[in-house]
Amino acid sequence: MPTKQDITQYCRGNRFVAVRGGKTSYVPRRAQALALAGPQGQAYELADVPSRSVRRNPEISPETTPAEDAYKLDIGAITFCGGIVALLIAMRTMYQSAHWQAHGPGFYGDHKLFSDLYKSVEAEYDTLAEKVTAGGGAYVVDLDNLAPAIKSSSMLWARVADPFERGLKAEADLAATINELLNSGFKVPRGLQTFLESILDAHGKNVYFLTQRADSLRENPARRTRYCR
Ligand SMILES: [Fe+2]
Repeated sequence: MPTKQDITQYCRGNRFVAVRGGKTSYVPRRAQALALAGPQGQAYELADVPSRSVRRNPEISPETTPAEDAYKLDIGAITFCGGIVALLIAMRTMYQSAHWQAHGPGFYGDHKLFSDLYKSVEAEYDTLAEKVTAGGGAYVVDLDNLAPAIKSSSMLWARVADPFERGLKAEADLAATINELLNSGFKVPRGLQTFLESILDAHGKNVYFLTQRADSLRENPARRTRYCR
């Protein structure tokens, strides 16, 4: 039976396990697991986690009513949703930073575009975090869970200097994570599924706006360099 730690690691992309001398390591690649385990240890894949994932969240009290129970999420869905909340929070700060830094020709349009983007993201993560909390996952939106996830995405995106390309990288990460959850086999109630699909839909529009602007700046390198400080 996979443990809560197994599922959390699986959702973070660490699909392989190495066990050696009583120490367990979770890693993203088979070769790493084999190397860590060495000839004395054991290496295996967590591939069967999603198919066995429709299990109860141990933090759900057995006294929940049938009405409450209908909205409860399993651990895999909670872990993924915690990751999506963190991505959206990181995305808000990233867009707001671009909103503050917009300058030069086209300043006002960019300032307004990034303002629309960061404000729309805020409403999304607030609703998603509330759905996860109602689903039995309050712990996943605790600051000690969110802070490292927000930091790791922010640091990756910060490596991209151009704010439009940076936004497109963040949008690609968000869409990949939501699609991975929807295709994971974890139990996602209909309401949550519809909500996640509405986020994907809204972000498709964001990608369109960012791509238009990135393309127009690409055709005009003089303007583009002004953004890459
Ligand atoms: Fe502002």
